[in-house]
Amino acid sequence: MNQQHYPFSLKPLTYAYDALEPFIGQSTLHFHHDKHLQTYVDNLNKTLAPYPQLHNKTLEELLCNPDDIPADIRTAVQNNGGGVYNHQLYFASMHKSNSVENHPKGEIAAKIAECFGFYDVFKTKWKEAALGQFGSGYAWLVYDNAKLEILKTPNQNIPPIHCKKPLLLIDVWEHAYYLDYQNRRNAYIDSFFSVINWDKVEERFQFYTHQ
Ligand SMILES: [Fe+2]
Repeated sequence: MNQQHYPFSLKPLTYAYDALEPFIGQSTLHFHHDKHLQTYVDNLNKTLAPYPQLHNKTLEELLCNPDDIPADIRTAVQNNGGGVYNHQLYFASMHKSNSVENHPKGEIAAKIAECFGFYDVFKTKWKEAALGQFGSGYAWLVYDNAKLEILKTPNQNIPPIHCKKPLLLIDVWEHAYYLDYQNRRNAYIDSFFSVINWDKVEERFQFYTHQ
């Protein structure tokens, strides 16, 4: 889906820094996008710079084929490449919402109903996964074998994306919410539901189901 390769660059947000308020504040977005994500991009480029044989590989190719990465930089590529991959998906998963009622629509809404029953059941299970991720990491909604699944990953790990196609994720590293919610991950997750860009999730779902 993502064809970018070395040198990687910081993709600008597609919304204003204050667009997600009051759910996610502009200071959080400035630090999270401009500092944390920029650092992952810079470190990934620095790690790859001396290895021209890796410069034409996409991020997904780098992350899905660890055996192709020289052992001395494998962990750095996985950590920083995962940081770039996860954050790009995360920031693109949100948008400005004027309502606390922000529901899925289209084919993904029908699939959520088929796999989870009511949207509220999905919300409860998603929240359990996001709260249950011990320490830093992510909770995901993925598509695999004609079904939706919720899963979680630690640190900057990604799901096995060759089979589990990412539709939606929430960053539960403290840097994603500490300025707005301090230790209350619970409140941050509740707010996240208000800014999910369901049009983007629908677009990803259709990409994977119609190809
Ligand atoms: Fe993050």
